[in-house]
Amino acid sequence: MQKRVAIITILAEDQPRAQVKVCGWVRSVRRGKEVSFIALNDGSCFASLQLVVVPELLDKLPAGLGTGACLSVQGELIASPAEGQQWELQVSAIELLGGVDESFPLQKKRHSFEFLRSIAHLRPRSNSFGAVFRMRSALSFAVHQFFQQRHFVHVHTPIITANDCEGAGEMFRVTTLDPQQPPQTAGEVDWSEDFFGARTGLTVSGQLQGELFATAFSDIYTFGPTFRAENSNTSRHASEFWMIEPEMAFCDLAGDCDLAEDFLRHLVGYALEHCSEDLDFFDQRIEKGLLNKLQGLHTAEFQRVSYSDAVAQLQKSGQKFEFPINWGSDLQSEHERFLTEKIFAGPVFVTDYPKEIKAFYMRDNDDGKTVAAMDLLVPRVGEIIGGSQREERLDRLQQKMAAQGIGAGDLEWYLDIRRWGSCPHAGFGLGFERLLMYLTGMENIRDVIPFPRTPGHADF
Ligand code: 4AD
Ligand code: MG
Repeated sequence: MQKRVAIITILAEDQPRAQVKVCGWVRSVRRGKEVSFIALNDGSCFASLQLVVVPELLDKLPAGLGTGACLSVQGELIASPAEGQQWELQVSAIELLGGVDESFPLQKKRHSFEFLRSIAHLRPRSNSFGAVFRMRSALSFAVHQFFQQRHFVHVHTPIITANDCEGAGEMFRVTTLDPQQPPQTAGEVDWSEDFFGARTGLTVSGQLQGELFATAFSDIYTFGPTFRAENSNTSRHASEFWMIEPEMAFCDLAGDCDLAEDFLRHLVGYALEHCSEDLDFFDQRIEKGLLNKLQGLHTAEFQRVSYSDAVAQLQKSGQKFEFPINWGSDLQSEHERFLTEKIFAGPVFVTDYPKEIKAFYMRDNDDGKTVAAMDLLVPRVGEIIGGSQREERLDRLQQKMAAQGIGAGDLEWYLDIRRWGSCPHAGFGLGFERLLMYLTGMENIRDVIPFPRTPGHADF
């Protein structure tokens, strides 16, 4: 079989080619008397290759040529006389690998994202989702590039775990016990009879295990799936999402923010450099001004404000919020968006939150009221990163766990790294889908992950 050439390679040629083979899916067919034009897309890039086909070849094809059909063609690559494209392929042989009929749902007209979600098995073949998933692939490479260049060690943290890192009780259970008749002791399910001999679930974060590795390799990162059984049906929450979690020994909260800022800037720069064709599409069709926003972000300093100042500024703003804002209460997404979109008009770190509303592992500040936490907020998306300096002092950590009702029994290993060779350390989590929403302008998290899992939906 002659080797096919990817369309991205062909479109980057600097001279004509005599015999090339390309394969892909038909985006459109324009039939003419003398020649017909077929736009062929193989997903390797946004653009389609124009095929020029004479009627004698088309007439020999079996029925089934139309939008969505799969073709293998060979021909000569020549300079195109048509405007807006450099090359076209004068087809000398054509084979219909997979035909279509008119019931193929992705016809030329523009479909709503909601409709496309219902055909998530076919939507990668649309322009929008082609662009989204190529960006997703490129950015996941950029994540590794950033950390590998800085000598961070990549750690695969477990997916099945007995620990609820965020302590929010949002874990999906993993069990082999019979749901009808679980073994019981004194009226309670006896988890010691379960497969792992303990109550386990899907991880909500790789952080706790990441911390263990940071106290051996200094700088580490994780990049994996995380699961949250939180019943919030919003455009920014998924039950299964991907998170990148760096953890650094010998680092405080300011250093943590510095890394987050460099990281985001690297990712934006990578997208601008390597995904320009897809970004042009998002800029024109999804979020007007996206390119300007990203170019601005690439050079901007991110602002930093303490939670206490942020609350004061929100109160002073005179804006009416659905949830009134008081010191001590968590920021709602309406507050977060007002801060980043109106008050700071750009990315902003909010730091030093009240300890009552944050997880047990965050380091106590000296004021006795706040912890060394940070959230990075960006316009349109809101919180994109959450992180903190960790409590590295054994006695303080034990007190905090007791205060939050967390038994040390299951976390002795976590306490051990404070017992032996403890050190200041810090880290954060970037939600990969939130990043993609920010970079593409897509407004719903369901549209930046191939097969979204949300309450009531685990299709495909
Ligand atoms: O703020 P979170 O809950 O922080 C942690 O999990 C820490 N253990 C991270 C760390 O310090 N290593 O989550 C981090 C980020 C959020 O800022 C958000 O971008 C994303 O993960 N995220 C979600 N993304 C999609 N759907 C959800 N349900 C998400 N929950 C959090
Ligand atoms: Mg958070």
